[in-house]
Amino acid sequence: MSQQITLRDAMRTLNLTRDGLADRLGVSKRAMDSWLLPDDSNEHRSMPTVVERFIAEILHSGPKSTQSVQSRSSVAGSAHLLSVEQFSRDSLEDLFRLADQMQPIARRQKICRVLEGAVLANLFFEASTRTRISFGSAFCRLGGSVCDTTGFTFSSMAKGESIYDTSRVVSGYVDAMVVRHPDLGAVAEFAQATHIPVVNGGDGPGEHPTQALLDLYTIEQEFSRLNKLIDGSHIALVGDLKHGRAVHSLAKLLGQYRGLKISLVAPAALALPDTIANLAARNGNVIESFDSLADGLAGADVVYATRVQKERMGGEVIEGYSADFQLNLAAVEAWCKPDVVLMHPLPRDSRPGANDLSTDLNHDPRLAIFRQTDNGIPVRMAIFAQLMGVADQIPHSLREPAWRHPHQVGPDDAGFHTLD
Ligand code: ASP
Ligand code: CP
Repeated sequence: MSQQITLRDAMRTLNLTRDGLADRLGVSKRAMDSWLLPDDSNEHRSMPTVVERFIAEILHSGPKSTQSVQSRSSVAGSAHLLSVEQFSRDSLEDLFRLADQMQPIARRQKICRVLEGAVLANLFFEASTRTRISFGSAFCRLGGSVCDTTGFTFSSMAKGESIYDTSRVVSGYVDAMVVRHPDLGAVAEFAQATHIPVVNGGDGPGEHPTQALLDLYTIEQEFSRLNKLIDGSHIALVGDLKHGRAVHSLAKLLGQYRGLKISLVAPAALALPDTIANLAARNGNVIESFDSLADGLAGADVVYATRVQKERMGGEVIEGYSADFQLNLAAVEAWCKPDVVLMHPLPRDSRPGANDLSTDLNHDPRLAIFRQTDNGIPVRMAIFAQLMGVADQIPHSLREPAWRHPHQVGPDDAGFHTLD
């Protein structure tokens, strides 16, 4: 296991920031920073063997163990991934530990074939770019193959076929299914008709569990760099909190953390449903509602903006979602902390008048949206590895790729961004 993965695992298991871990180990913060840098960085240093042994001792005597990556075929104890409500804090941390192990594959530094021979069906009955392609890519990067169907028009559902029949038929062809459907509960219906794993890729206004998992993983990763912990932090959720399924799943997951302040920033017509706010308010979390960005963003460590889900409104007029709600450079400079992390599940609506997250933040390093989308791959690989029962094989199955990969993915990335 690489040094960075071991150190991230130690921070997560002990719930310590990087400075907190340096104190616990009795080493300088500078040394810790250099150990957390990627191996190919000039400033990277190897940690001494004595420190490595000390970490192993602490972890094995601590409350949770690094050996907890499961080999059973389940995610958070279930054969399907339908809702974030199936996760506990421990099962979240197990998944993120495994996602860390997937990073070298996601960054094209290693290849892996543990799913060789397995076939995934990606059944998307609603528009998607990220979820469909990243699930497909994650399955392929583990050695599997993917069959896709998009929209109702090109599926026999257009001829009146039921979910039960569709699910049973497809299960005879493939080994796992990812389903996105416009109706609440429809993905759970697919799961009832099959014994192969079904993953919810978004069910109408219900949930988007894998989006929220990759969001939380991204927050953890950004906070590791900023020397912060999720427990005790301040998260602002902004925009269409009523219809957005990604923010519904994320708000529920935040309820697994302790001592959070969660600011809900939305006009009354787009407020978060109370049942979801109540789940976010577990563990002493404090929820406050605001109807203006100026008040709602102050002091937040993370601002999670969302798109107005017009496709779920059936022509309903939204009162109060004016240009004042747009998260742009001026708003961030005026109201946010200098080290804020700016997130969005995407897509953002970049058409004039949409008032969504502005493109004028594109060169701002606080904008984490593409680090967030990139994290869709390791998190979805970890989900497949758990559901297909191959999680324990990953460390021994990594090989060098024979092909060249880019050092930098996008023009605004600092390098192929790092695990630090
Ligand atoms: N892509 C996310 C979803 O499908 C968020 C959005 O579309 O605004 O829920
Ligand atoms: N975030 C998200 O689900 O994106 P897509 O709708 O493009 O899949």
